[in-house]
Amino acid sequence: MHNVQSPSTEHRLIITGPTRLERRGWCIRESNAGVHSTPRESRYTMLSANSAESWVEYYASEHECAKANARTTNWTMPSLRSLGVLPPAKVASIGCGNGMDVVALRDFGYEAQGVDMHEVAPPARPWCHIGSGLDLPLVDGEFDAVISLEVIEHVGVDYDGKGSSDRERYAAELMRVVRPGGVIVLATPNRFFPVDEHGSGLLQVRFHSPFRDSTLTFGELRQLFPGCEVGNLGYDGYFMLEKLSRLHIPVSPIHLLLKAFNNRWLHQSAFNPHLFVWFRKAI
Ligand SMILES: C[S@@+](CC[C@H](N)C(=O)[O-])C[C@H]1O[C@@H](n2cnc3c(N)ncnc32)[C@H](O)[C@@H]1O
Repeated sequence: MHNVQSPSTEHRLIITGPTRLERRGWCIRESNAGVHSTPRESRYTMLSANSAESWVEYYASEHECAKANARTTNWTMPSLRSLGVLPPAKVASIGCGNGMDVVALRDFGYEAQGVDMHEVAPPARPWCHIGSGLDLPLVDGEFDAVISLEVIEHVGVDYDGKGSSDRERYAAELMRVVRPGGVIVLATPNRFFPVDEHGSGLLQVRFHSPFRDSTLTFGELRQLFPGCEVGNLGYDGYFMLEKLSRLHIPVSPIHLLLKAFNNRWLHQSAFNPHLFVWFRKAI
């Protein structure tokens, strides 16, 4: 396939020395991924994975793959359709994790490819590149849509404050590979809302300052994509709230409550936990 690298040979991970966060039990890895790497790669932080191998193992687990597949069917596909991106459109998933969204999109007739700095799950490998979101191994204007779900909050983060200019470079790369008139779809926690799902414990929630944190607001996202038309997508089909279900907490009222944030103005507010934002590149 055009421009797809072999994951096994091009990928290497550098485990950095212990940092303040690692001493607190976080696992921080700095990745320099393959031929498409850049001197300064983003730092990626994630709980419950103590090495690069266990990270890949966790993300490629049957459970995580099934979740990615379900979310693609229930949220990504309807979202793309609502934006007029129909099969056989070309879609790139940047920071695709296990890559099962790429597989699901292809099953539905999209011409999908993925990029991640870690190895993807075996079924996704023929369609995915191992590479950096800061220097995408993709051709200019090649895609009708680019999706990047739960990624931008991890790009250029030192977790001592806000993100760095790597975010601008990442956004510029997404803009570069989408065609004029094409869309970029992002999902990321809302900085204004002081709780997100990057923590530890039973529910894995993290409390953060709405004023000083590496997550982004709607406005900050918009600034990264100048000149684009912008809008938001809804919650329906995105979260399964399985941790709450396991605790026998009824999830239907929560789903109902989250639906309220499908509204454009509420979506941008401090009451909304998560941002689902699309940008349309000017023609
Ligand atoms: C929280 S996971 C989300 C994965 C997937 N998009 C999903 O929603 O299930 C973030 C992913 O972004 C990838 N990632 C983070 N920074 C990246 C970068 N600079 N370039 C490429 N991938 C990156 C990580 O390897 C990880 O797989």
